[in-house]
Amino acid sequence: MTAPHAQASPLQLDDIQGIVLRDRPSPYVGTYILLRVDDPGAGRRLMGRLADLVDSAADWWQPELPALLNVGLTYRGLEALQVPAASLNTFPEEFRQGMAARAEFIGDTGESAPARWEPPFGTGQVHVVLSLLAADQESLAVVLERARKAHARLPGLQVVYRQDFYQLSTGRTTFGYKDGIGNPTIEGSGAQAPPGDGPALKAGEFVLGHPDETGNLPPMPEPAELGRNGTFVAWRKLHTRVAAFRRYLRENSGGPEQESLLAAKIVGRWPSGAPLVLAPEHDDPALGADRGRNNDFRYESDPHGTLCPHGAHARRANPRDSQIIGDVRLHRMIRRGTNYGPPLPAGALDDDGADRGIVFVFIGSHLDRQFEFVKSQWLNDGNFTGLGTEKDLLTGDNDGTGDFTVPQHPVRRRLHGVERFVITRGGEYFFLPGIGALRWLADDN
Ligand code: HEM
Repeated sequence: MTAPHAQASPLQLDDIQGIVLRDRPSPYVGTYILLRVDDPGAGRRLMGRLADLVDSAADWWQPELPALLNVGLTYRGLEALQVPAASLNTFPEEFRQGMAARAEFIGDTGESAPARWEPPFGTGQVHVVLSLLAADQESLAVVLERARKAHARLPGLQVVYRQDFYQLSTGRTTFGYKDGIGNPTIEGSGAQAPPGDGPALKAGEFVLGHPDETGNLPPMPEPAELGRNGTFVAWRKLHTRVAAFRRYLRENSGGPEQESLLAAKIVGRWPSGAPLVLAPEHDDPALGADRGRNNDFRYESDPHGTLCPHGAHARRANPRDSQIIGDVRLHRMIRRGTNYGPPLPAGALDDDGADRGIVFVFIGSHLDRQFEFVKSQWLNDGNFTGLGTEKDLLTGDNDGTGDFTVPQHPVRRRLHGVERFVITRGGEYFFLPGIGALRWLADDN
């Protein structure tokens, strides 16, 4: 979101978890702590303590918050807390099934299949995630202490996984591109939508208890004390095959300039974040760094994709005003991706065996028509934009036989042999309750 200003918000910002509205600091460091609840009483006590410890979205436009603690629960986690069945049954089907059960549909197949995920993902052992994000190590230590207090002396809780993350010194993803630029603006949050991105989206797309873009209230877990001001998260650990990606660029280009142009065509933006439709020939770091301009564009000037291909990652993931099948506004999500692992040294073309990538956090009220739809219909298929079975080159579940089309005059260019550059190492769907709902969860309902 851009150009925030402190105005009265009709949203209950102090009841919404901070991660929904607050952007990551830059630079950032952090960690995800995943817990299993073996004793329902301990789980409920944890929720009660967290109600006083997690950060809300109040005053989210103030940049100075040094650290952020937030919490989510899987469906199995809600069960482990012994939330009554009458309430569990009101959660959406895809959330109840969990991410692993949705693997085929969202393209987690082959090397990305749940059978090959890191334990404990997809096993039902992940119940709670604590997300700790800070501006520096010192602030992280403070928020870690807060998280430790939350689960200290509760023997019925086990830490089952931990994933540290941090912003690379380049401020970019492991592939070398700036990420997290295109994010939707929420109506009533106090943020102003950049003109190119259309009007702000109805709050119900991202916060339960408010009308969404259809004009209806999204299905909300019951009772209202539990569902209100909550939202859902698709959390994914994605390993990036940076060396293979670089080799693919090299093999399909005639020199460094062509290589960086091809990479920009694949992503839809240059490494600095400058959008291809505004900077079609060369990177423009000043544009990439300008938050007032780097997201202020549409695709109307580029109906044939000669500036930014229809198959570019960012154009697929948010086609904006492109002529496509479907209503773009029903498929937006808030992204809070974080990098993990060491960067591959510049210029290296051989894999060094290190685990590196992105932990993606996609936030929205509708896991099915937001995250799952974008992943299955827009990234892993091309029919919506006339590309047939062509998948996203960057993140699609390609198998070495994929194509990538670059529209250009006089004839388009078609690349072949696209392999899989991103592997899912694990993931879960979480419910991100409102802060009042944490108190409801703490009670013996
Ligand atoms: C490792 C995997 C991924 C990488 C490296 C990656 C990288 C990027 C980059 C560099 C951008 C352009 C900068 C920006 O607009 O923020 C972008 C945009 C975006 N990506 Fe990804 N992405 C990945 C996976 C995904 C997945 C799985 C989804 C959806 C299911 C997704 C959805 C989006 C969206 C919605 C945008 C914003 C487009 C816009 O608003 O213009 N990305 N991504």
